[in-house]
Amino acid sequence: MAYTYQARAELRPRELDGISEKQIQQHWTLYEGYVKNVNELNKRLSEHIQKGDFSPEYAELKRRLGFEYNGMILHEHYFAALKPGQAPANDGSRLDRLLKQSFGGFEEWRKEFTAIGKMRGIGWAILYLDPAHEALSNHWVTLHEDGHPAGFTPLLVMDVWEHAYMVDWGATGRPDYITAFLKNVDWRKVEQNLEAALKAV
Ligand SMILES: [Fe+2]
Repeated sequence: MAYTYQARAELRPRELDGISEKQIQQHWTLYEGYVKNVNELNKRLSEHIQKGDFSPEYAELKRRLGFEYNGMILHEHYFAALKPGQAPANDGSRLDRLLKQSFGGFEEWRKEFTAIGKMRGIGWAILYLDPAHEALSNHWVTLHEDGHPAGFTPLLVMDVWEHAYMVDWGATGRPDYITAFLKNVDWRKVEQNLEAALKAV
């Protein structure tokens, strides 16, 4: 038996600035596909386990867990942090302080995060908290599963697969999309992610 996941409808962003409803709709459908695939994968794995069948077929299904699970979870982080018209991180907030400590300030963080988002290839730019050291760092994650620092908590997740911006900006539109993404970040949500992660240590 495995847990059955549901798409988290409460996270669906609305009325974003520079990211259209049509773009979000297509992207959301892809996210629902990951949820479906996670459930299907778990079902098939559980059938193998019940039969005591740990054959190469089981191994190949197991290898896909990282891709499907992270595809689901990263999209949830991505959608959850998008809300139009939000003010930047508050001066003096813990997030603001940690951005200064780890990057020199918000602007320095933004420049590196943007540069990571523009890296060639498909993947994700992610701002993480290292809870053990209360340090922040930006990372590139290839596909959905390669490059996550173990034990770190994602605070802000930006999808830079082409499907995230093709509808609005076309194949060469990644820089414009990144600008639009950053305009819509819900910094209160990022602060909440930080506080929850620190509380859980
Ligand atoms: Fe995506």
